[in-house]
Amino acid sequence: MYAEKRLSGSLGGDASISTHTHLDDGLLEKIAAIDHVKFRTELWYSREELRARVDKPGFFCLMVELDGEPVAYDFGYRDEEPGVYFSDSSATLVERKGVGTVLAVLEMVYLLEAGYRAVKFTTEEYDQAGRPLRRIWENLGYRTVSVDSGGVTMMMDITPQLVNSRVNDHLLSRG
Ligand SMILES: CC(C)(COP(=O)(O)OP(=O)(O)OC[C@H]1O[C@@H](n2cnc3c(N)ncnc32)[C@H](O)[C@@H]1OP(=O)(O)O)[C@@H](O)C(=O)NCCC(=O)NCCS
Repeated sequence: MYAEKRLSGSLGGDASISTHTHLDDGLLEKIAAIDHVKFRTELWYSREELRARVDKPGFFCLMVELDGEPVAYDFGYRDEEPGVYFSDSSATLVERKGVGTVLAVLEMVYLLEAGYRAVKFTTEEYDQAGRPLRRIWENLGYRTVSVDSGGVTMMMDITPQLVNSRVNDHLLSRG
């Protein structure tokens, strides 16, 4: 798989990417381990909150492991808005090596295959570590639809042309 090869190269190890459509205990522990390192305490999901995601229709999760250790995830579920996927959370222990981008693009591929017409999520302008989150996602083509006290809401239409172009730019051409 190109994405695994690409990440194995940039991370300097054996990277594997798995997909999940339900949240078992093993997956829950892996997500929680990454989540608790990357997010400030008030943003932590408790095991119960994470587990509640299982009850949401359309749950989908990508998990990256490096030499058998969990290093990154991306998960979401069907939004209330028809045809829209809500990308709930994404985080990586190893930053600036393309993991976040690869996960975002693989998520787009899945959403196209699964028949979604758009993806939506909420983020922050900057987080506590100064990461320019809104700009990071805008660079990948997500557009800002609203900014309020609940954060920045971003969306992207999922079309074959868009997904093809992201796959070419980020998965195939730099490997
Ligand atoms: C946001 C996050 C998932 C990005 O993942 P990542 O693997 O570091 O991102 P990539 O390596 O694919 O970087 C893509 C581009 O984003 C930008 N970027 C990423 N981190 C950045 C930072 N700290 N400062 C400025 N630009 C940054 C850069 O343009 C980067 O490309 P470059 O490294 O070639 O310049 C990661 O920083 C993370 O886990 N953050 C903590 C959790 C979080 O905030 N999740 C997002 C909630 S919406």
